[in-house]
Amino acid sequence: MEKIFLTGGTGMLGTYVATTLNDRGYEVIVAERRHFNLANYKAIYAYVKEAAPEVILHFAAETDVDLCEREPARAGICNHLATEQIARAAQACGAWLLYISSSNVFGAEGKINYNELDIPLPTNYYGRSKLNGEEAVRALCPDNHLILRAGWMIGGGPGKDHKFVGKIIQQIKAGATELKAVSDRLGSITHAGQLSDFIITAMANRQTGTFHFASHGTISRFDIARAIGEILKFQGSIVPVESSRFPLSAPRPFSEGIQSIYLPSLSATCKPGYWQEDLARYVATFQG
Ligand SMILES: NC(=O)c1ccc[n+]([C@@H]2O[C@H](COP(=O)([O-])OP(=O)(O)OC[C@H]3O[C@@H](n4cnc5c(N)ncnc54)[C@H](OP(=O)(O)O)[C@@H]3O)[C@@H](O)[C@H]2O)c1
Repeated sequence: MEKIFLTGGTGMLGTYVATTLNDRGYEVIVAERRHFNLANYKAIYAYVKEAAPEVILHFAAETDVDLCEREPARAGICNHLATEQIARAAQACGAWLLYISSSNVFGAEGKINYNELDIPLPTNYYGRSKLNGEEAVRALCPDNHLILRAGWMIGGGPGKDHKFVGKIIQQIKAGATELKAVSDRLGSITHAGQLSDFIITAMANRQTGTFHFASHGTISRFDIARAIGEILKFQGSIVPVESSRFPLSAPRPFSEGIQSIYLPSLSATCKPGYWQEDLARYVATFQG
């Protein structure tokens, strides 16, 4: 059976993928933090090449957008240079390389939605570093890579989701009477579990190219909070607030909504649906 090298196996997406691969009996080498540190990027090539995998799933990244803004060198090293080393190793091993990128590569153009034909123009260092990672993958593994750009990732489930959706659900369950959510910044959601299912199929098919992977619809966090409120029959009020109320280090674009032109042409079945349905399916995992 083929050997799969996985980075970021402890993260939100990596946890779903690692669990599925283990359940299905794949031989998975999970890059261990003590041997694999994105910041120590010069050691990565030898470590990955030594493992001689047929498949590399590269999910590890410095995902703290505001930290990346405060420390651009860290963003450049962890998200760009480390990815370049992984792509070099993939090239040397002849491995199929999957790189997860982000809707953050878009936004500066000021559009509401971006598809795969739009030329990326990020607004912050995180987005730039992820874009440079993409370019390294394309340059070094021209015929043997898949890049999937995800939107605002949701996932983890009860007890593990400490991000926006998890926090809203937790506040409702704790008896909050008023919730606040930003209404002037837009994006798309990606359910990490759905993305994981897609990745497993794409890996089996050795799919190549660049695809956007997000539920249909460009929405604000206020829209998400309102939808969760409806699902959980929240009786309190949900108040839209402006992003200027929560100053952050990294500039966020007005919209980083993504949609795909190419995904519908694939025969894979596990594709995202409409955002309300995908969100409702995820919120349902917190009920009962
Ligand atoms: N979350 C989102 O909204 C989102 C949206 C679009 C794209 N993405 C992309 O999707 C991928 C997965 O994201 P995620 O949300 O699942 O990530 P996450 O939950 O933030 O986890 C990050 C993963 O990267 C590892 N990592 C971080 N710094 C590292 C370092 N210096 N050396 C080695 N490993 C390191 C972490 O390991 P430890 O557990 O040991 O820290 C963890 O396994 C990333 O490439 C991210 O850029 C994320």
